[in-house]
Amino acid sequence: MSTFKAPKGTFDLIPPYSATYLAVRDAISGPLRRSGYGYVETPGFEDVNLFARGVGESTDIVTKEMYTLTTKGGSELALRPEGTASVLRAALEASLHKQGNLPVKLWYSGSYYRYERPQKGRYRHFSQVGAEAIGAEDPALDAELIILADQAYRSLGLRNFRILLNSLGDKECRPVYREVLQGFLRGLDLDEETRRRIEINPLRVLDDKRAEVQKQLVGAPSLADHLCDACKAYHSEVRALLTAAGVAFEDDEKLVRGLDYYTRTTFEFVHDGLGSQSAVGGGGRYDGLSEMIGGPALPSVGWALGVDRTVLALEAEGIELDIPPATSVFAVPLGEEARRVLFGLVTELRKAGVATDFGYGAKSLKSHMKNAHRSGARYALVAGERDLAEGLVQLKDMETGEQEPIALDRVVEELRAKSA
Ligand code: HAM
Repeated sequence: MSTFKAPKGTFDLIPPYSATYLAVRDAISGPLRRSGYGYVETPGFEDVNLFARGVGESTDIVTKEMYTLTTKGGSELALRPEGTASVLRAALEASLHKQGNLPVKLWYSGSYYRYERPQKGRYRHFSQVGAEAIGAEDPALDAELIILADQAYRSLGLRNFRILLNSLGDKECRPVYREVLQGFLRGLDLDEETRRRIEINPLRVLDDKRAEVQKQLVGAPSLADHLCDACKAYHSEVRALLTAAGVAFEDDEKLVRGLDYYTRTTFEFVHDGLGSQSAVGGGGRYDGLSEMIGGPALPSVGWALGVDRTVLALEAEGIELDIPPATSVFAVPLGEEARRVLFGLVTELRKAGVATDFGYGAKSLKSHMKNAHRSGARYALVAGERDLAEGLVQLKDMETGEQEPIALDRVVEELRAKSA
């Protein structure tokens, strides 16, 4: 161990565990890549005001959880706590919304940072795969994204997750509801901080986890009753499309989400085996965000799925992904001459596309073979002086234990055929 450790709330991804992360990222991005989403990558940090304005000055993410820094040049930056504001900023900056048909569909994968109290499933550095569909107001787009996330989870074998769905209304009906709700909440017996929240973000109060608060919220005015006709029609179309696609969901009027940019459709994927950090992913529509960050009106929708929590969900369901071994051939040299010849062969095999590793260091046959087994390779190539003198190497099938000599000049061809 060195003097240093990974910072609090972070952990390293190391083999073989890290392979599961790669497989999960692949499984989540696969359905997106097959549905017209293009890959986007943005910097790990942005102007702090992008998040203050975009995610919202009243959210925990902005007020408590952002890693902010002042550069030597005096710029105020923040490590990205989420991806939506950055991706929209990048799309606007590149004028993607002017270059062809809308929506602009983008997917991303990366690290995000929130200064949260660490616990299982909640880290200060975590990993998301996300998707944003920018510049179209169409219930089919909301449905598409939810269906693709559902497919991604199912392709991993996950079953014990649920989809919670809500509509938060739009700029017509939400302000009206907000006032009605504030009127109700002001009459309750609540602590100072919660009273302050009533004035800044009353919908978040509905989300309060404390039983004594929830008791008082019985009979609170419901947003569903206050949705305008356009929002109601939009929401019932999203629901109908999901039902037609065979994707089950639960209506959850209390689903508010922790970011301020949402309008209309919001959803969360929760897994029942994860304890308190049960949200494996979430998202929704954010029709006003572009204007909030200085862009034109661009109604949009997206989600982000947490890779760390998806891996925990796999563990909770006892699912082991079928990850093929990274190496299919392991070359074991016995002696100096064999090292040179086999090393050359290894390079040829790799060029031919056969995943190959080599027994490095002066080791005994036994310890080389141990490494060959550990690599997961199906075949070992073993050669000593006597084999080479005859122009041969020994090809050992690690599964059956069978061994056969093959001519040096046939090795690449044979192994390419075998490992195809
Ligand atoms: P979010 O709900 O804040 O949404 O995060 C999405 C997912 O990221 C969560 O469901 C969770 O799995 C994971 N996550 C968040 N914080 C942590 C943490 N501290 N540790 C581990 N995992 C975490 C967003 O970020 C929005 N940008 C989603 C979106 C995209 N909305 C529209 N487009």
